[in-house]
Amino acid sequence: MIRARITGTGSYVPEKVLTNLDIEKFLDTSDEWIRTRTGISERHVVADGEYTSDLATNAARRALEMAGVDAKEIDLVVVGTITGDYPWPATACVVQRNLEALNAGAFDVSAACSGFLYALSCAVDRIEAGRAKKAVVIGAETLTRIIDWEDRNTCVLFGDAAGAVVLEASEGEHGVLSTHLHADGTQLELLYQPGFGTRLMPSEETLAKRDYFLKMQGNEVFKVAVRSLTEVANIALKANSMTAADVDLFIPHQANIRILDATSKRIGLKENQVYINVDRFGNTSAATIPLALDEANRAGRLKSGDIVLLDAFGGGFTWAAALLRW
Ligand code: UT7
Repeated sequence: MIRARITGTGSYVPEKVLTNLDIEKFLDTSDEWIRTRTGISERHVVADGEYTSDLATNAARRALEMAGVDAKEIDLVVVGTITGDYPWPATACVVQRNLEALNAGAFDVSAACSGFLYALSCAVDRIEAGRAKKAVVIGAETLTRIIDWEDRNTCVLFGDAAGAVVLEASEGEHGVLSTHLHADGTQLELLYQPGFGTRLMPSEETLAKRDYFLKMQGNEVFKVAVRSLTEVANIALKANSMTAADVDLFIPHQANIRILDATSKRIGLKENQVYINVDRFGNTSAATIPLALDEANRAGRLKSGDIVLLDAFGGGFTWAAALLRW
């Protein structure tokens, strides 16, 4: 059977760091509140003139370098993002141009914080079907551009980053074992950006109502997130006749340490099986999982044959999991 195997990982975060103490200076909040309620201490923020495609391109270059793959060999570039450079064309097309991956098809996937796993599943399916041999899959976001810096309920949570993997067709046991996608659009207003799609266009009224910014009812989202992340992780394990004890590394979407702890416990995972970096980057939406995967990989935490469980939840709602044999 042809499998899609990750042969390179890469990530990139903007240079500028914004700590909780920095935020305290302009917002009615505290380092203490942010750390105890979310686990976040600092996040990276893009500079003027730095765009989602720049973060994505840098992450992809690092992944290609690790894989030893030339951009011309790539058949497919897929970017999971909700903060693309333009409403259209796809940020994947900008990345494709930057990389000079001129033989690749390119498209974006909009699934909010589940964007990377949704994008991964598209690429995996094309590789398994024999329609692509090498793909670059990226999660990249500049959420700090669409958060309301006057809304303390949301702005302390998010950061900017990109992560990427190179997938290659491979025979044998190593690679992506399965992917699982779910959605529930009935509660989409609990976490969304009301403007500026074609429904609410830019106008004095929509600007005054701050419709351009991300809106979230955090405590409602919290409950659904824990339930959904647990459910889909168990579905992925069951589909491969595995249990929590088989998992060498669990990389969940890094939204909030309390969500990660509650989810890990419910799945039956121990602390040493779980990768956490939300303290240093905050919630970078589609970028959290590939960023964490790259950190873990470069730190030597992944050994050949390891079972890796990836698990995401985000706006839509969308949620997804992937199980890999490294
Ligand atoms: O990426 C996937 C989607 N996103 C998520 O998964 C996020 C899910 N939600 C969460 O992580 C949490 O719900 C939050 C971190 C957003 C909030 O934590 P919470 O424990 O659910 O707090 P809460 O919303 O119930 O608010 C508690 C209090 C409120 O004050 P009152 O009404 O009790 O007086 C808020 O006004 O905390 C207040 N508050 C703050 N205080 C200081 C909210 N934000 C802040 C803040 N600093 N930044």
